[in-house]
Amino acid sequence: MTRVSEIMQTMEYGPSVEDSAAARDWLAARGTFGHFIDGDFTDPAETFETRDPATGDLLAHVAQGGPDDVAAAVAAARRAQPGWAALTGHARARFLYALARHVQKRERFLSVLETLDNGKPIREARDIDVPLVARHFYHHAGWAELRDAQFPGHAPLGVCGQIIPWNFPLLMLAWKIAPALAAGNTVVLKPAEYTPLTALAFAEICREIGLPKGVVNIVTGDGATGAALVAAEVDKIAFTGSTEVGRGIATALAGTGRKLTLELGGKSPFVVMEDADLDAAVEGVVDGIWFNQGQVCCAGSRILVAESVAERFEALMRARMARLRVGPPLDKSTDIGAIVDPVQKDRILSICRAATDAGAELVGGEAQEGCFIAPGYLRDIAPANPGMEQEIFGPIATLSTFRTADEAVELANNTRYGLAASVWSESATVATDLAARIKAGVVWINAANLFDAAAPFGGCRESGYGREGGAAGMLDYLAAPAVEAAPETAPTRPDAVTGAEAPGSGGIDRTAKLYYGGAQKRPDGGAMYAVPGGLAPLGGRKDIRNAVEAATKAGKWAAMGGHARAQVLYYIAENLAVRADEFAARSGRAEVDAAIARAFHYAAWADKLDGRTVAAKPGHLVTVIPEPYGVIGIACPNAQPLAGFLSLVLPAIAMGNAVVAIPAQDDPLAVTDLYQVFDTSDLPGGVVNIVTGARADLAPTLAAHEVVAAYWHGGGADDLAVVDRAASGNLKPVWAVPSRDWTGPDAQGEVFLHRAVRSKTIWLPYGA
Ligand code: NAI
Repeated sequence: MTRVSEIMQTMEYGPSVEDSAAARDWLAARGTFGHFIDGDFTDPAETFETRDPATGDLLAHVAQGGPDDVAAAVAAARRAQPGWAALTGHARARFLYALARHVQKRERFLSVLETLDNGKPIREARDIDVPLVARHFYHHAGWAELRDAQFPGHAPLGVCGQIIPWNFPLLMLAWKIAPALAAGNTVVLKPAEYTPLTALAFAEICREIGLPKGVVNIVTGDGATGAALVAAEVDKIAFTGSTEVGRGIATALAGTGRKLTLELGGKSPFVVMEDADLDAAVEGVVDGIWFNQGQVCCAGSRILVAESVAERFEALMRARMARLRVGPPLDKSTDIGAIVDPVQKDRILSICRAATDAGAELVGGEAQEGCFIAPGYLRDIAPANPGMEQEIFGPIATLSTFRTADEAVELANNTRYGLAASVWSESATVATDLAARIKAGVVWINAANLFDAAAPFGGCRESGYGREGGAAGMLDYLAAPAVEAAPETAPTRPDAVTGAEAPGSGGIDRTAKLYYGGAQKRPDGGAMYAVPGGLAPLGGRKDIRNAVEAATKAGKWAAMGGHARAQVLYYIAENLAVRADEFAARSGRAEVDAAIARAFHYAAWADKLDGRTVAAKPGHLVTVIPEPYGVIGIACPNAQPLAGFLSLVLPAIAMGNAVVAIPAQDDPLAVTDLYQVFDTSDLPGGVVNIVTGARADLAPTLAAHEVVAAYWHGGGADDLAVVDRAASGNLKPVWAVPSRDWTGPDAQGEVFLHRAVRSKTIWLPYGA
């Protein structure tokens, strides 16, 4: 007689297919979709098809948006924005709450529609995507209510253009629309061409809840429609998608002064230490790379495992992989559904082919009929193998080993991306050490691919910049309190002079130099230029490169901690005060007083810009930590050379960054006199590096430098386009610092500190 326990062991699942009648009826009733502009659907002209990737069946015809459609949508959003922003936070909160409620009421319908259009397993659409969409609108109903209390003085940006990908169509819509609306902006959103349907269903929900016309506009179409939105008169672009397109958008927006946030690709490390719970880690792999067919920007696609446990881990992983069910997405027991489109399937297969051609072995990963690919992984893979470097964006991981924790960190960081990481160890010390050292915007300890509206998400390096979720996400949809603008003095083109032409100065000749690595240096070309009070070195590109290299060696500054950095800043204040009369003779008393005040102010802040623990998923300690960028490049204002320089450099170093600064071109000697102050204040060499000279030559070189992680452009926007373009090559955030009176109260405070750090969100299972 067969025992029940044996049946349970051997039993194959029968199909359990989700009913899709409601979604199909909805599609049939509409047939062809127009854009959603100003509260109504337009009559579609040119259209494209959207298909079910699992079957190839046609689902609907959808309008292909052109520049006129985009312009009409932006105009509607522009008209609606003042009224929307004028509502009380409470009134906006009620609309966001209604959106959340209506998404929840339609959870089943939206999950099925998402699965039909995208190919993802219904279990994931139903249990992960759509509940997170509702959670996002609830959470941001709260931020709408609390905006004025939590972000005093901040204002909405205006009209936001938002471009989203196809891997989490409705969830990405929620990530974009909820914070924008909570902050008081209106939006024009373009869904991805493969997956426009849930966005159109959402448009109907906007109508149902009586959202004021024009607050949300949806224009469907392909990359050309996206490009038209980037070119339109919007105040911000928020983009999620490929690094290549993101880079193009950053270049297209160069010099426009429009805000930009980019959430781009990744090749996130999944690190399994020797003492990890291997069974749990294998489940982590399932969530990390085989979730959503691996079409996840933060997928744990590079599995790095300690050599001593690699064999055991691989055996467990292989066994688990064999039990994953590839099949119809609407079947509730399917683990791996369809790839979104044949184009993407071909792309995944071609990267796998290139990887095996280069010597790697592919385990699993077979192409199946239709848009299906079995889960798999690449082993015996060299660091330079294309499968190791490129984002595969499919259900294929890489598997490599390491010997020591240092080697694990080195391998983890050996990528141009920096989106997420997953770290597995039973030791809190080991896991948190790795979490701190891996370059990523999000780190999951003993977990993978957890998301919540309260937990900021976003990357660094070629994974982009900006955060979505939580307070950090709200700040990316708000303008900082306005400051009273001060006139800028544009620098005059300097002419090189030789020492012989130097204006005589009477006393002992003192030659100003550059300053990097804690020492004074002659400029590479040896040239000087005339400035008030004498000559300044005419630095060049090579000097910028030398200064950046010196800055990279100041890593210990961040590790010293806030208290120790504060001591140095107080010491700078003290030494400035001792020489106040001398500095005042050159720069005036107001600038010197401001300089001393700044040093005190940022000494105070050095140990106080705290992270926060956010209320995300129960049973998880989710901590958002402000981290320094590393090296920040700063072009200082030309007016008020001393106060302007210290108002920008001190907040950057207070947070643990090293700085390469270009002081006021027309009057840099106020800054070159600071070298002795720095030297006598225990400021470690390489923390502040200074290159004087022609801003037009130096600033683009600094902005373009690979190692410089963020760039601040003070002193007017005339040359902003040039530095923006230079910075867009390696996707560096640029802050165009508004001009102001650098001796006044607007020249210090938290606004500067927030620009000096980016957040890292660390998830740690806790008491669960
Ligand atoms: P994509 O970056 O081309 O598409 C994302 C969105 O950008 C879509 O809405 C698309 O219509 C729009 N778009 C395309 N060109 C544009 C342009 N010039 N200006 C403005 N908007 C534009 O990504 P694609 O081609 O769908 O996928 C290619 C690869 O990109 C994937 O294999 C994956 O590696 C990566 N990717 C990463 C995503 C992420 O979440 N980080 C999401 C989607 C793709």
